[in-house]
Amino acid sequence: MYLVTKAYLFKKDSCKSYVLNGDESMRIILLGPPGAGKGTQAAKIVDEYKIPHISTGDIFRKNIKEGTELGKQAQEYMNKGALVPDELTCGLVADRISQEDCKEGFMLDGFPRNIFQAEMLDKFLSEKGIELTKVVNIEVEKELLVARAVGRRICKSCGATFHIEYNPTKTEGICDVCEGELYQRADDNEETVSNRIQVYIDETKPLVDYYSKQGIVATINGDQSIDKVFDDIKNSFGK
Ligand code: AP5
Ligand code: MG
Repeated sequence: MYLVTKAYLFKKDSCKSYVLNGDESMRIILLGPPGAGKGTQAAKIVDEYKIPHISTGDIFRKNIKEGTELGKQAQEYMNKGALVPDELTCGLVADRISQEDCKEGFMLDGFPRNIFQAEMLDKFLSEKGIELTKVVNIEVEKELLVARAVGRRICKSCGATFHIEYNPTKTEGICDVCEGELYQRADDNEETVSNRIQVYIDETKPLVDYYSKQGIVATINGDQSIDKVFDDIKNSFGK
């Protein structure tokens, strides 16, 4: 059952505790506006550090594709570029990071997205006796973000991300990794992207200050080559 008060929103069953081993676990948050390169860098981080990638946007899109009740509810908000309500979001993240494969660490992409979600996450983690390792804040000039999102293409089969101009596939419309067909996200049109950027500025950007107070933010210049951004992220991890 979900506890839907503003005091505590995570699913009650998710509170079964586990303790991560030692200090080597990586519990990472990727923060940044739409099109900053969170998903692109997440793929590289997973490859290098072998930690699960938890993207709330991907989870919602999977549910939309499968026609679930969650998907139907989330779609209404995503199509407008608005945030999906906390009541639908926090519980599923708590469930996911309670799974066995997250014991040695995890990387959150697109969560938390407002102060309320961040406070819920802090509370949830502290009840488990664990802490976040690093918040990677990828910064990109607003002017570049719309072009990045509108030109993005994603593989239907393996989920690899490309860009028609900045990171093109060898054959147009075909994935370089698995030869799957590429598609464009429903919320990657100019109007929705602009709304998403504004929502980021209003609701998500304050998290940079929130986590700076915890001393765990690494701000990365996202307006560099994909490989250079990744090098900077690795340096910020110190391993
Ligand atoms: P979500 O899926 O999280 O989207 P987003 O945050 O808007 O971010 P994007 O996925 O658009 O960008 P990205 O930073 O991953 O960039 P990418 O690497 O793909 O959320 C979607 C929606 O779901 C939200 O609007 C909301 O409705 C809902 N939602 C999700 N989480 C929620 C939550 N916690 N609470 C409430 N609602 C929630 O790169 C973009 C493009 O740029 C690609 O084409 C890529 O090839 C290219 N690129 C990447 N890096 C570079 C580079 N260095 N140089 C040149 N091009 C680059
Ligand atoms: Mg993404």
